[in-house]
Amino acid sequence: MSNGTIDPLREIFHEVFGSSPQPEVYRAPGRVNLIGEHTDYNGGLVLPIAIDLDTRVCIRTTGEDSVRLYSTNLDESGLIELGKLHDRQDKWTDYVQGLLVELDRKGAELDGFDLLVDSEVPVGGGLSSSAALEVGVMGALTDVFGLELDDFEVINSCRKAENDFVGASTGIMDQYISYFGRGGTALLLNTSSLNYQAVDLNIGNHVLVVIDTTVSHTHGANQYNKRREECEEALEMINAEFGPGHLDSLSGLKVYQLEDLEKVLPGTLYDRTYHVVTENERVVDAADFLSIGETEEVGKLFYASHDSLRDRYKVSAPELDFLVDFALNFPIPGARMTGGGFGGSTIHLVPEEQLDEYVDGATRAFEEEFDVTPRSFVVQASDGAKARPTLSR
Ligand code: GLA
Repeated sequence: MSNGTIDPLREIFHEVFGSSPQPEVYRAPGRVNLIGEHTDYNGGLVLPIAIDLDTRVCIRTTGEDSVRLYSTNLDESGLIELGKLHDRQDKWTDYVQGLLVELDRKGAELDGFDLLVDSEVPVGGGLSSSAALEVGVMGALTDVFGLELDDFEVINSCRKAENDFVGASTGIMDQYISYFGRGGTALLLNTSSLNYQAVDLNIGNHVLVVIDTTVSHTHGANQYNKRREECEEALEMINAEFGPGHLDSLSGLKVYQLEDLEKVLPGTLYDRTYHVVTENERVVDAADFLSIGETEEVGKLFYASHDSLRDRYKVSAPELDFLVDFALNFPIPGARMTGGGFGGSTIHLVPEEQLDEYVDGATRAFEEEFDVTPRSFVVQASDGAKARPTLSR
């Protein structure tokens, strides 16, 4: 990105915090998970891309004892006293404070700073605006304060800020891809080993379209944490039946073993387990088909993943189902909800020559059904913050 694009941000920074010296500008992207949903906290497989929408973070050290914050999206300021980190306040500033708590635990010594956050990633859209914020701020802090953190300390601190301070029991996928993402590729990440394999995004004459329902159901955060607890309970029951230590995570199971579990697990827990195990298999298949350009096959797996999330894992929402049904009837090769669910976004594999017709049709149909205008955009697989941490140098 050229300096021309970050100058307006710097101007806002100067208006909010006063003039000179110039702030540095860091970035981290949002993500789209192609497939592998609700597997990352079950030691399973995911296949995300970092997208070409960034959260941008302008920072300038002040040498004071406090941190001044400003969000352009919300036009909202915040203040954190470094000596007295306070409790969670259920605001966006919690993400920054959560990182400061993590850094404090690691013994990092920070002075005050001014920080402006500007997100192109729609907030609450299921595209990981929170991980983009955490990774962007972490990159800014490690650089300006010369902190010596390795890659995994960076992403784990971000995840811990979200898990322990903000209180969302998420897996590692979002922080991982926002940091390690690579242009033109998806990462096939094994969340047990934390190793990945880069998978070329061979979708031929198709484009990846995100349709953000702009709807976020309020029970989502509780239900997300509940799914995680259900998976832990299923794992305990399986280990109680087959001997302690039988399984480290639900992802240690293969599809052929599911039949035996039907007698062991209550219906709901069986359904959750069924989703996780079959979804892992779909991820492997999708990565194979993607790498050889079999877009139609990838698309079928998208639909199958959505069905499983709707019927077995029960994390979809009427708005998401509506858009996936629209895709099936149009028809395009594949579509599914992406991210945690209960609102947020869907992704669609759309033949390039049908892009306008498809997006217009989906938008109109959605408006008629829900009286809300969804947001649509084409996404490209882009570099994460590790490959391109800053916009100002
Ligand atoms: C959210 C979480 C991720 C992952 C997805 C569901 O995006 O932050 O860790 O669990 O939901 O796949």
